Amino acid sequence: MRHRFATVFVLLGVALGVGAAAAQELPPVSLPAPQTEGGKPLMQALRLRATARAFAPDPLPPQTLANLLWAAWGINRPQEGKRTAPSTRNWQEIDVVVLNATGAYLYDAAGNALKPLAVGDHRALAGTQDFVKDAPVTLVLVADTARMQGGPDTQAYAYADAAFVSQNVYLFCASEGLATGVRASVDRPALARALKLRESQLVVFAQSVGFPRK
Ligand SMILES: Cc1cc2nc3c(=O)[nH]c(=O)nc-3n(C[C@H](O)[C@H](O)[C@H](O)COP(=O)(O)O)c2cc1C
Repeated sequence: MRHRFATVFVLLGVALGVGAAAAQELPPVSLPAPQTEGGKPLMQALRLRATARAFAPDPLPPQTLANLLWAAWGINRPQEGKRTAPSTRNWQEIDVVVLNATGAYLYDAAGNALKPLAVGDHRALAGTQDFVKDAPVTLVLVADTARMQGGPDTQAYAYADAAFVSQNVYLFCASEGLATGVRASVDRPALARALKLRESQLVVFAQSVGFPRK
């Protein structure tokens, strides 16, 4: 029962983008089951896909966050453990890190949960442009090269695989009326330090998601 209260509290914290930042420890977050039906027809979403650079501060509701993450890099064929985006040789080396006002979390697609990485608001580190701090959620697409086979094309494959995840986010946002924009302009060393990434992990892109600023 106590666990359920803690989960509700943390979900509220994520929804409000406040609360747990002051806590020493960042608890894991259980996400609502993703809704995998509905949305705009693909051709309409393609007509609406665009990069936004102005975001309202309103937080994303937990259900929207769960749907967004599933669209980005969720498991769509559970029997095979395969995903909504392709990856080179099915390496599945991309990790989606969620930054909000509370902390940094690793998206656990199999567990439909957010695993804590670092407490505090790290969004401003995920870009060099002013609007970056405004979006309620920043996704950081991180490639773990330890899951790849190596060779001269490793980085190119990591960038390609992250780009598919990014496009899924673009199309989900177009479908839902959300604002999003991918970025290569990221202070990668500072962000890697803040997220306590391993040597093998490469920050590829950051992508803000939120409601459009009116
Ligand atoms: C790999 C990549 C990196 C990008 N990096 C940035 C960035 O750092 N900052 C930014 O404002 N936009 C960035 N963009 C967005 C592009 O500027 C944008 O896609 C382009 O201007 C076309 O606009 P559209 O996406 O609305 O069609 C990036 C796009 C891609 C594909």
